[in-house]
Amino acid sequence: MASSSIPPTATLTGPYSTKTLSSSSSITTSLSPFFPNKSQKPTKQCSVSVGGVRCQAKNGDNDHLDQGLGKLDRRNMLIGLGAGGLYGAAGLENNPFAFAAPVSAPDFTECGPADKPDGSTIDCCPPITKTIIDFKLPDPGPLRTRRPAQDLAKDPVYLAKYKKAVALMRALPDDDPRSLAQQAMVHCSYCDGGYPQVGFPDLEIQVHFCWLFYPFHRWYLYFYEKIMGELIGDPTFALPFWNWDAPAGMYIPEIFTDPTSSLYDQYRNAAHQPPKLLDLNYGGSDDDVDDATRIKENLTTMYQQMVSKATSHRLFYGEPYSAGDDASPGAGNIESIPHNNIHLWSGDPKQTNGENMGAFYSAGRDPLFYSHHSNVDRMWSIYKDLLGGTDIDKTDWLNTEFLFYDEKKNLVRVKVRDSLDTKKLGYVYDNKVPIPWLKAKPNPRKSQNQRKAAVSSGDLTTAFPATLSDKISVEVARPSTTKRTSEQKKAQDEVLVIKGIEFAGNEPLKFDVFVNDDADSEAGKDQSEFAGSFIHVPHKQKKNIKTNLRLSITKLLEELDAETDKSLVVTLVPKLGKGPITIGGFSIELLNTT
Ligand code: C2O
Repeated sequence: MASSSIPPTATLTGPYSTKTLSSSSSITTSLSPFFPNKSQKPTKQCSVSVGGVRCQAKNGDNDHLDQGLGKLDRRNMLIGLGAGGLYGAAGLENNPFAFAAPVSAPDFTECGPADKPDGSTIDCCPPITKTIIDFKLPDPGPLRTRRPAQDLAKDPVYLAKYKKAVALMRALPDDDPRSLAQQAMVHCSYCDGGYPQVGFPDLEIQVHFCWLFYPFHRWYLYFYEKIMGELIGDPTFALPFWNWDAPAGMYIPEIFTDPTSSLYDQYRNAAHQPPKLLDLNYGGSDDDVDDATRIKENLTTMYQQMVSKATSHRLFYGEPYSAGDDASPGAGNIESIPHNNIHLWSGDPKQTNGENMGAFYSAGRDPLFYSHHSNVDRMWSIYKDLLGGTDIDKTDWLNTEFLFYDEKKNLVRVKVRDSLDTKKLGYVYDNKVPIPWLKAKPNPRKSQNQRKAAVSSGDLTTAFPATLSDKISVEVARPSTTKRTSEQKKAQDEVLVIKGIEFAGNEPLKFDVFVNDDADSEAGKDQSEFAGSFIHVPHKQKKNIKTNLRLSITKLLEELDAETDKSLVVTLVPKLGKGPITIGGFSIELLNTT
């Protein structure tokens, strides 16, 4: 539709100069929003060499990735459609454009074929039921305690129940919404373009790469767990979690690897079941790292994703995504790493699409999926219970709705706001499980006097959008070069933004991001210079996926003693992926932490 082809207001931020270019409806998407004409090309004012970055760069005005015109148009359309009753006027926020417009539950009668990564389609649509029940929180009863899967091999009573529950789900007819086959299709339809957004037939519902990631999957597991309990007649039955954040759980849990068990899935990476130590930064190949180093890297990764880089709601939960928005605005920390890496690590690389775990359309066929997500869900609980994290207070998030079939085959409409407290949903996580990453801080690889990036100015990439086919380095200006106080850092986090990452979506993809690193060798995953990764698990959208990556660098700057530097050298190293990846541009911004 016309409105979606209007490019957003583009801000060129970089070490060079800053220009805000406003778009108009006559600009077409083929014209780069970053360099609309030659006269606006920046002039280089920095030089970088071993031992230092010298720069005349202006501090960038920050581009906050507002969707600008495109979004306003869509909101107007939404109101014009007369959906007012649904979206109402409640929850108006300070932003005059931000009319409350949560993504509505899908209309199952509009469900269409989902896209498989290989380009074919698959029918993942659920059975249609006319009556929809609004979810009511259950009466308080005994809590279901979710325990670490690696401990359950030693609990034959529990294990027998779990195996029986999954065996019964497998045995149900494929059109029973409680069957394992249908449960897998839930994920397929919500994640691979099965549902158009209500009111926006050209847009699809997508629950990844955005702030719906945690609540959608919490609800999905809630019903899966209730179905298992119903099938075995034990309402206290709890789904185990794959404790991949602690060394004892950094393997495929033994209970899933017995080929005679209902918990087994034949489409997994055969090299990773022996058991094999998990790589939370996995990017498609097993590298040669000893186990002690790998464990240290994994723990540091957890510390960074959960503690030092989870500085704001946007970084922890993912980017806002409301009715009328294009899918995939940006993933939260844990969704990216290690959630996506673990999908790719688990799936069978011999299958066309890395089935089962390695592609979203098929991931739910493997019982391991639900324990993987149980630990993802546990991270949300740890964030709130242990690390002081809070809920998002935006009504667009709180009022987002999903539909699921419950354990009685009723079709139930749920809202994000009812998912926030696991106790109200009747379950908790075993809190005696050690959390060894809480203090696993990274170390800068270089001593202070060698901390500058060893990239010569001639190696810097200056034109964006750029195709990422090889390693690229770019110099990016910082918004402030005075050392910020801890109060200021508490209020605003410094964030590296990689914008407009565009790719087809059907192939797995990963690139690593380094800041002020050595030009010739990469920092380890437990070192400060490693700023993070972009990682994608194959799932297709109707259009190319275009998303953004935000990485917190406040702590990194302290560790590299770079808080007063005018610019940073950011290096992207492609690790996995076939098709072209386009990078729209970079900026460094101060992002409010609340
Ligand atoms: Cu909906 Cu692990 O993905």
